[in-house]
Amino acid sequence: MDKRLFMAAVGASLLVVATVVWARPSKRLDPATQTCRVFTPATIEEGQKLFKSVCKSCHSRDNAVGAPFIHSESMISRAWNRVFEKRYVACAKDGSWAALNQEQLMRVNDFLFMNSADSYDPRSGKDCG
Ligand code: HEC
Repeated sequence: MDKRLFMAAVGASLLVVATVVWARPSKRLDPATQTCRVFTPATIEEGQKLFKSVCKSCHSRDNAVGAPFIHSESMISRAWNRVFEKRYVACAKDGSWAALNQEQLMRVNDFLFMNSADSYDPRSGKDCG
């Protein structure tokens, strides 16, 4: 491929990636620790994996432990922050979160915040891609 054409193609694909990433929040202020959490693809992926392996072990559809089905879009970003800041939900109090350390819990929070019910609006010009 012609070198200039190649550079143009690289530029265009970077633009697409950047637009998709920028449509969602790229950071959040963690209320409990008052730290600014800057998201990277690797930490978000880890948060998603931990959410699936730990939280979803109970919160899957039709589970046997009486946990409501939850996914990232079950709540808006601010509400997810509150769940992890206040830890008011029953499972946070009864030790069901104990498999995760503080940093891992913040990564789960990052993932849920970034993919929450109000973090992406396909009808908005800002998020349409
Ligand atoms: C061992 C099972 C178990 C694990 C693991 C678990 N939960 Fe729960 N969770 C429950 C149960 C059971 C309830 C319902 C408690 C009740 O209403 O009495 C609940 C309630 C909740 C609620 C309230 C939902 C609602 O609609 O009222 C949220 C939010 C929640 N959990 C989030 C999480 C997150 C985030 C994680 C992972 C960090 C997690 N849970 C891990 C069992 C679990």
